[in-house]
Amino acid sequence: MSDETLRCIHKRQSEEKRINQQMSQYFIDTMNCLIYYISALIISFSLFYAYAKYKLSYWSRRGVKSPPTHLFFGNFKDCITLRKSPSDKMREIYNSADPDDPYIGFYIFHKPLLLLRDHDLIKQVMIKDFVVFSNRRFGSGSQRDPIGLDSILSMHQPRWKYVRHKLTPVLTGQKLKNMIPLMIENGKPMLNFIENLPTNEDGWSEYEMKDISSRYTSDVLASLMFGININSFVDNETAFCKTGITIFRGFMRGIVFIIQFFLPDWDFLVVPFIKRPANYFRNIFWDSMNTRERLGFKKGDMIDFMLALKNGEQNPIYKFEGDNLVAQPSSLYIAGFEATATAIAYVLHDLRHHPEHQNTIYNEIQTQLSGKELTMDLINGLSFLDSVIIESLRLHPPLPITDRITARDYVVTIYTSSFIYSVNENRLKLIEKDSIHRKCVLLKI
Ligand code: HEM
Repeated sequence: MSDETLRCIHKRQSEEKRINQQMSQYFIDTMNCLIYYISALIISFSLFYAYAKYKLSYWSRRGVKSPPTHLFFGNFKDCITLRKSPSDKMREIYNSADPDDPYIGFYIFHKPLLLLRDHDLIKQVMIKDFVVFSNRRFGSGSQRDPIGLDSILSMHQPRWKYVRHKLTPVLTGQKLKNMIPLMIENGKPMLNFIENLPTNEDGWSEYEMKDISSRYTSDVLASLMFGININSFVDNETAFCKTGITIFRGFMRGIVFIIQFFLPDWDFLVVPFIKRPANYFRNIFWDSMNTRERLGFKKGDMIDFMLALKNGEQNPIYKFEGDNLVAQPSSLYIAGFEATATAIAYVLHDLRHHPEHQNTIYNEIQTQLSGKELTMDLINGLSFLDSVIIESLRLHPPLPITDRITARDYVVTIYTSSFIYSVNENRLKLIEKDSIHRKCVLLKI
């Protein structure tokens, strides 16, 4: 072999050696990296596991029962994955307690919450110690949404007390009496719509009652709160109806409500979905306000009331100006629309199953109202109708969950036993009405 060939072989061998060394270094680096990541993963998971287990033992450490939890979702996995509605889940949690348990703990993710079951305890929280429980958690991060949620529905003390005090006069008995003509006016297109529904060969009309009750409620609230006539029985495609539906119905709205009610700290996620209805309400509100102010007439509705608040003395705690004014009728509309439409639909549904009660109501209305002009006093005299509505609300509460957070540490005293339990600041209480209502059956349905 020539020198040249030997040099070539030698060069190739050293090149191969270098490559082999590089390969083994690469292998060692990769293995090290893998070991590093796997260790980091195992450590992170162990830390998360320990953290989650600790967080999810909040109630057991205090001797309060709670249903089995998911390591990440707490008790709300089925809601987050949209397999169960929040109220179905709350009912399930309520029923998982022993019959005499005054409360049961549960978790949304790792946040511990207490579901109250004992009636005395509920009264204590909602009435007697209201000062401690006067804040809701619902939408509580909602300064980002001045129209939809930084309103009476979700604001905290002391703003809530001030705004509530200012708004209470708008819904007094006398104010409601004054609004009756507007409600009757809005009832006429509904009657006309029902009378003109197509009939089948047996002479019956079939129609979705929730749709009728939604249209009527929407018409009444638009006229009472915003001073506008939308007549959704003639055109259900009006922007007002569509906006109302955007707020309450559909897949995305379901998610928005879950976040606002159960995960208010995450409410930055919902901002894009609430902007469009807010813009719409802002425009129609200022249209009505400006027209009313310019022409100087009064209708005895919310717009008159808002004008008085706008031009009245202002308090730095909450100024009735700009979006703070728009927030008031919008929040009453949001609070009133779905709840009332659902309540009316359920009353009709329950009556459908009890034709004998239909006859009683029909006779009561005939006896009390026939030939007379409808007034608040006459409505108050319809005692059987009143009982039916109350019974239907008991069976199908349109807003089945009420929430409260404590303003300070609070000692829960259970009168049925000598158990005393201290609840920390900001611990949420939820009251699940659907299950409580059904515990005592007043009327068989
Ligand atoms: C059958 C119909 C209705 C039902 C079942 C219903 C139910 C409720 C419930 C359960 C609450 C929460 C109470 C709490 O947290 O303590 C509430 C609050 C409220 N509702 Fe209704 N509601 C109905 C109709 C209306 C209507 C028509 C309006 C307005 C026009 C309205 C306006 C409000 C307001 C403003 C609040 C918050 C009150 C506050 O924070 O002081 N509701 N409603």
